[in-house]
Amino acid sequence: MGTAVDRHIALIGFMGAGKTTVGEEVARRTGRPFVDTDAEIEARHGPITELFDRGEAEFRRLEREIVDEALSAGVPSVIALGGGAFEAARSDRALAVLIDVDVDTAWERSRRTSRPLAHEEAAFRALFAARDYRSVADVVAEDADGVLLAGLGIRIGPGKADGDVLLIDARLRELRTFGLDQTITVQEKTLAEAWRVWSELRLGRDGTIVAYGGGTTTDLAGFVAATYMRGVRWNALPTTLVGQVDAAIGGKTAIDLPQGKNLVGAFHYPDRVGIDPRELETLPDEERRNGMAEVVKTGLLAGRPLWELAEDEMIRACAAFKAEVCLEDPYERKGRREILNLGHTFGHALEAASNYEVPHGEAVALGLKAALKLSAIEIDHPLDPQPVRLDRELAWAVLQRDKKVRRGRIRLVLLEALGKPVVREVESDEARAALDELIID
Ligand SMILES: NC(=O)c1ccc[n+]([C@@H]2O[C@H](COP(=O)([O-])OP(=O)(O)OC[C@H]3O[C@@H](n4cnc5c(N)ncnc54)[C@H](O)[C@@H]3O)[C@@H](O)[C@H]2O)c1
Ligand SMILES: [Zn+2]
Repeated sequence: MGTAVDRHIALIGFMGAGKTTVGEEVARRTGRPFVDTDAEIEARHGPITELFDRGEAEFRRLEREIVDEALSAGVPSVIALGGGAFEAARSDRALAVLIDVDVDTAWERSRRTSRPLAHEEAAFRALFAARDYRSVADVVAEDADGVLLAGLGIRIGPGKADGDVLLIDARLRELRTFGLDQTITVQEKTLAEAWRVWSELRLGRDGTIVAYGGGTTTDLAGFVAATYMRGVRWNALPTTLVGQVDAAIGGKTAIDLPQGKNLVGAFHYPDRVGIDPRELETLPDEERRNGMAEVVKTGLLAGRPLWELAEDEMIRACAAFKAEVCLEDPYERKGRREILNLGHTFGHALEAASNYEVPHGEAVALGLKAALKLSAIEIDHPLDPQPVRLDRELAWAVLQRDKKVRRGRIRLVLLEALGKPVVREVESDEARAALDELIID
């Protein structure tokens, strides 16, 4: 199982399942190369029907060559494996994702094509029944979002904690019953808390920590998992909207220091993230609003009003978008992750200048307002955040310090259009004017 963070995503499934269409979309969205083994065979050796006429054995030999080559490539790719080549996806080098289809749909889609194994319906159905894709698949997906989620081990829907030690948020401990071999209650992501957890853990090198709570819990648990015995596995069960659309996704783990937030940490991806939107039923409104700010950020980046979707779909789409960005840039080395800072430069300035009295979500909602303004995009802000009362000069000082203003210019993530993030330098008086609009005296 595991994730596709450092591995290929191999799409398997019967003829007509849509491996090529889904694969192209996943490759485009993650910036990964796409290899369609059937297309590659045709490009090198000519039409598959003609190759088949020379005998299936020869076709399979050529196919194996191309599949081996694709799986050996050093760059993590998206590979659509020809319908008969699925056994190759047992490789450690790939996460095998089954694009499922029922036999009637597959036949309808394939019958009018020139596919050599789709000439005769009875034979087609017999072949369908004979191929056991599920025995090879690590996970099943129905669309591109499903593949992206699978790529980071994310599952949406009810699921149980799977692991050895449960780290549970103190508030949830009162609200839920839950048990693994050992349960440790946590409430803050500090060194003292990490220290306590390290000392209390009864866990071997091959053990798994499960984090059950919001971003505070998953950040701490992930950090403990990254450091304990030089790294043990962990799974996340996020219970806040922030956790489900943001914090539990993307491998960033951290603790806060008195000097600032998230100053010590590591990239350490959870093997699995179980997102159950029903967990949010007990979430206080102000915490939901914090999460909605990240949802709006994601919608602006994706270019779709995700905040208008029903909650389950909204969470799924936001989690898939974050997965897309992180699959492209898992360790923040390529730049793509930078877009996730949309609204956050101004947001951080407001948070810090208010001594963290302004909640993160409120600050980000305001930061997004500034980003929209500087991007000259006119849409009604879905959260309609109101200006906050704090020291303008202090906020401006934090903003300048944060972004190392150079030659009177400041680097920001903005939008060229909805769904088209760009990193741009803005004149500092323009930035100052946008900041001033977020503040009342
Ligand atoms: N690693 C990342 O990529 C990333 C991204 C965003 C935020 N974060 C971090 O996440 C943290 C914030 O996380 P958060 O917003 O999830 O807050 P949180 O984890 O602090 O939880 C907020 C409050 O909600 C309570 N709670 C949690 N789940 C609940 C539920 N289902 N019902 C009732 N109460 C519940 C908690 O006890 C807490 O009081 C910050 O430290 C931030 O730095 C990390
Ligand atoms: Zn945020």
